[in-house]
Amino acid sequence: MSNIKVDFSNSGVVNSDIMKYKNDVEKIHNDFYAKKDDENEFLGWLDLPTNYDKEEFERIKKAAKQIQNNSEVFITIGIGGSYLGARAVIEAMTNTFHNFKKRDVPQMLYAGNNISQRYILDMIDLIGDRDFSINVISKSGTTTEPAIAFRIFREILENKYGIDEARKRIYVTTDRKKGALKQLANEEEYETFVIPDNVGGRYSVLTAVGLLPIAVAGINIDKLMQGAKIAQDKYSDKNLKYNECYQYAVIRNVLYNEEKNTEILVNYEPKLHYFTEWWKQLYGESEGKDLKGIFPAGVDFTTDLHSMGQYIQEGRRNLFETVINIEKTDEDITIKADEDNLDGLNYLTGKTLDYVNKKAMEGTIQAHIKGGVPNILINIEGLDEENLGQLIYFFELSCAVSGKILGVNPFNQPGVEEYKKNMFKLLEKPGY
Ligand code: PA5
Repeated sequence: MSNIKVDFSNSGVVNSDIMKYKNDVEKIHNDFYAKKDDENEFLGWLDLPTNYDKEEFERIKKAAKQIQNNSEVFITIGIGGSYLGARAVIEAMTNTFHNFKKRDVPQMLYAGNNISQRYILDMIDLIGDRDFSINVISKSGTTTEPAIAFRIFREILENKYGIDEARKRIYVTTDRKKGALKQLANEEEYETFVIPDNVGGRYSVLTAVGLLPIAVAGINIDKLMQGAKIAQDKYSDKNLKYNECYQYAVIRNVLYNEEKNTEILVNYEPKLHYFTEWWKQLYGESEGKDLKGIFPAGVDFTTDLHSMGQYIQEGRRNLFETVINIEKTDEDITIKADEDNLDGLNYLTGKTLDYVNKKAMEGTIQAHIKGGVPNILINIEGLDEENLGQLIYFFELSCAVSGKILGVNPFNQPGVEEYKKNMFKLLEKPGY
């Protein structure tokens, strides 16, 4: 069984300060568990790793097989919580260049997460005459970006295959009963998957929202759920003293109260880039409200040490870092000796690239701590489905608890409506 290990020793927060939150955390915990089955609370994600819809889960696997068999390309159409989780897992679990190499599963593309016409034109050009299927994902069923992309790709599918065959290539993930997309799916008889009422977009990666695209990419969703279940069990202890997930939530708040109002999620593995994007949305949308909240930033190291490293080392001291460390890699590259040694790298002879990467990490952590950037280190054993499932659950739970400690509602996002109202007015949408 794999395990997440969290090291707070360089956070600068002492145990006595953490334990001051013991009663608050216990109250939040009790409240969450008491309300978890309440349809009106957005707590459905809390026991999703055990209470997921098993029948739908099997249908997801079946649909994924069908898509793998009949499609060379698969487009996930969604925005925010309706696509970032899937992309985070797919990028982390597949070959870095999976979309460029020969593969057994469809090429994975993402649309409906912007309104750029160049992006759509380029995608149409890339697909060419290849067979493809789409999964449109929208809980509200009315979000503009995915709705536009869906209209475009649905038309392309219908022109290419005819209405009946196109229907078999359109998969809809939306609300159980309501919304424009649900209505359309009913009328057209598209295969439909459900986003449970009590699971908000950014907490939905372990529902069909994430699971269908993830399964299409050939990733083992059973193991992903098993990992999440390990975390669910492990972090169900209401005692702050024994619960690292709750400790992470508390430490973030302690640091925030000390004017550390920007958290940088750091990875040393580019495959985690979209995991960070998922994390940014989770924390940003959950906590950034009522004029409060830690600003969630992200960097890929060592790449960004050559762009953001200067600021982190010596810029404004309002930062703290949370580093994800992957302890083991599956294959090694060893640096060989070179007779001429013109590049001066012979001192690394016999060392693996991973060893060098780890030393870069250790050196950077030391430098940043010295520079006044507190550090939280999250160690995972390896990059696999089980570890990723754990990490997802760890961050979802800590985010919800952290938001509650901060005194905000971590499950709404009222601020997102402002730009929409202006945009609709400018576009002369009826009613605006
Ligand atoms: O977390 C959220 O609730 C949001 O990010 C939504 O997922 C995002 O706005 C997309 O909404 P919808 O699924 O309704 O299209």
